[in-house]
Amino acid sequence: MNKIILITGGAGFIGSHVVRQFVTNYPQYHIVNLDALTYAGNLENIVDIATFPNYTFEKGDITDILFVEKLFLKYNFDGVIHLAAESHVDRSIADPMAFVLTNVIGTVNLLNTAKNAWKSNFEGKRFYHVSTDEVYGELHNLDEFFVETTKYNPRSPYSASKASSDHFVRAYHNTYKFPVIISNCSNNYGPNHFPEKLIPLMINNIRNKKPLPVYGKGENVRDWLYVIDHARAIDVIFHNGIIGETYNIGGNNEWKNIDLVKLLCSTMDEKLGRKKGESEELITYIADRAGHDLRYAINASKLMNELGWSPSVTFEEGLAKTVDWYLSNWDWIDHITNGDYQKYYEEMYKIG
Ligand code: NAD
Ligand code: TYD
Repeated sequence: MNKIILITGGAGFIGSHVVRQFVTNYPQYHIVNLDALTYAGNLENIVDIATFPNYTFEKGDITDILFVEKLFLKYNFDGVIHLAAESHVDRSIADPMAFVLTNVIGTVNLLNTAKNAWKSNFEGKRFYHVSTDEVYGELHNLDEFFVETTKYNPRSPYSASKASSDHFVRAYHNTYKFPVIISNCSNNYGPNHFPEKLIPLMINNIRNKKPLPVYGKGENVRDWLYVIDHARAIDVIFHNGIIGETYNIGGNNEWKNIDLVKLLCSTMDEKLGRKKGESEELITYIADRAGHDLRYAINASKLMNELGWSPSVTFEEGLAKTVDWYLSNWDWIDHITNGDYQKYYEEMYKIG
């Protein structure tokens, strides 16, 4: 069936994989990628599908009321998959207001514009909001996992802004019967991950023999999922999820930060032909992140049992694919670290 789907944040890490998943698997859909190209947006992430006939890029800000209204008039969207966000916890500690603007106000602007454009006739429409497990707060006991009914307890400005946006999405469903679906996913890793986040930062620093900054004692635990498996889950939930429902997405794959960093060191040493243990010497313990959440762990059994999703790769396979991708794409990371990534591609796409 023909559909016009708006994906927001499709030049970012996860959004670029979601855009590719939809553009390549659904030639009958038209995918419109709306992205403001903030520091985290990089058109190089989706250069391979940029000229596909069922794909259009629109540069714009989700907080811009008039722009978003015009976009909904220009395209008669059947669905929205909303990923655009400020996404880095450390930045949210330094500048919370940027997170309120994009994550809260931007999301409400999209909800409101879609509601008005769809004129309360929601037949066949859906608004899919992509969220995080960080809204649930932190876990202490090893036998505890986040389920869809876990009480919200956000503890960083990032997670508070995402929790707030989730509340607005549910409020639109309750108040206006607006057709929403939410998913809350654990930490992602994979190709095109911006090198301010743990895994790509460590890979790049190991390559450059720079210090590997581990916060606190490295005891914090994250549950890692390969980004392409997140994109596959979003596809399944968008098509088969029940309106009004929430689905947790996770890989059942918990790692203490320090163990993960050591694994990256040994993997990179082997791939780069370095002496065993060489990169571990770069590990540098630094002051802990303010309010650092101890442990996240997702129970994804609702998604697995009700919609039949499961991860396609093990962590060993996903991490090997990720390291191999960085080893063959140093240009990608160099363009980011030298600041060229936006200029070059904006010119190529005649944007700005
Ligand atoms: P990212 O920071 O890599 O990308 C965000 C994208 O949104 C960028 O392309 C950026 O240019 C765009 N954007 C930011 N502000 C915008 C605005 N005002 N208007 C339009 N576009 C704007 O983020 P990501 O890691 O790909 O995360 C995508 C989504 O998934 C976010 O909503 C995030 O909360 C959620 N999520 C991320 C993770 C993770 O591990 N990275 C896990 C669970 C959920
Ligand atoms: P991050 O990739 O920023 O994701 P999130 O904070 O959303 O989970 O960080 C993952 C974990 O790694 C988190 O516990 C903080 C830690 N960390 C470090 O120890 N050093 C670093 O340089 C970074 C960026 C993160």
